[in-house]
Amino acid sequence: MISDTQRLLVVGGGGMLGHDVVRAAEALGYEVLTPGRVDLDLRDAAAMDKLRRMGPLWVNGVINCAAYTAVDRAQDEPMEAFAINAKGAGSLAAVCAENVWPFIHVSTDFVFDGKKTTPYTEDDPTNPLGVYGKTKRAGEELVMQMNPQAYIARTSWLFGVDGRCFPRTMIDAWRAGKTLRVVADQVGTPTYTGDLAPLLLQLLNLRPAPGIYHTAGPDVMSWHQFAELILGVWQSVTDEPGEINVAPIATSDWPTPAARPAYSALSTAKLESLGLAPMRAMTEALTDYCRAYSAALG
Ligand SMILES: NC(=O)c1ccc[n+]([C@@H]2O[C@H](COP(=O)([O-])OP(=O)(O)OC[C@H]3O[C@@H](n4cnc5c(N)ncnc54)[C@H](OP(=O)(O)O)[C@@H]3O)[C@@H](O)[C@H]2O)c1
Repeated sequence: MISDTQRLLVVGGGGMLGHDVVRAAEALGYEVLTPGRVDLDLRDAAAMDKLRRMGPLWVNGVINCAAYTAVDRAQDEPMEAFAINAKGAGSLAAVCAENVWPFIHVSTDFVFDGKKTTPYTEDDPTNPLGVYGKTKRAGEELVMQMNPQAYIARTSWLFGVDGRCFPRTMIDAWRAGKTLRVVADQVGTPTYTGDLAPLLLQLLNLRPAPGIYHTAGPDVMSWHQFAELILGVWQSVTDEPGEINVAPIATSDWPTPAARPAYSALSTAKLESLGLAPMRAMTEALTDYCRAYSAALG
């Protein structure tokens, strides 16, 4: 628990990660403010002005979980994605700087092009492949420019109980008896929002040197391996009978409007040096997720 009551502003608290950040902060005793998009739209200059006028004592920290996250749709809506992921993130960062509110901005592994074969570090050059990644990278740059004290928490392959995510898609499809075909040539680090959320709060409390931190799960795998792991854990949690048969396919067999990096695992060595990582093994995180999803299904 935190010692005195602290007030935290979570932007995008209605999203998949945002829900868990709000939950984790409340469990630690924070008073959490989480205005919806109607009250605090990152594109709205008047809303940003109002926020600016709240003054330094209003909150003790801000976490930005809000973003335009529709990776494929962004290809057709670059202006909209840029307005939220880049300009909006930069405006929020500037307001936090003016009010001296400690600020964490969440970013993505999609800032990389996937040409590496070992986990990406914070110092590796970025080269996003699609519009979403480009707007998120532009957001990182604007955040750092507007607020040199900011933290950028890059994460990857998020899944959580409050959003549409890959584990849910796999479980639903398997339970519906569908044929499962999953790409085996894209590799990354799945990250459970239930584990990322408390880590972001630890980062905010610890206040290490500002800059970029990779905040991803500890296990590197392909989407195909992840699918098999998800369904194996689901069966062990629920005892639901049935064969698990996931066919590995190539990215070229599953074309998408936005190109994805073939390899985007994030190294968390920098975070480990602060004692904030590794997160729990993926099997443990998935066990929690599957228990929660199974309970939600009733
Ligand atoms: N999902 C992943 O696999 C993944 C991977 C790597 C990094 N990330 C990053 O992690 C963060 C959280 O992702 P997520 O998957 O939890 O996102 P999400 O579930 O799509 O939630 C995004 C949130 O942002 C809000 N939002 C969108 N536009 C806004 C605006 N103009 N002003 C204010 N709020 C706005 C949404 O509000 P509404 O509900 O009103 O739309 C929603 O609450 C994002 O920065 C994302 O880029 C995600």
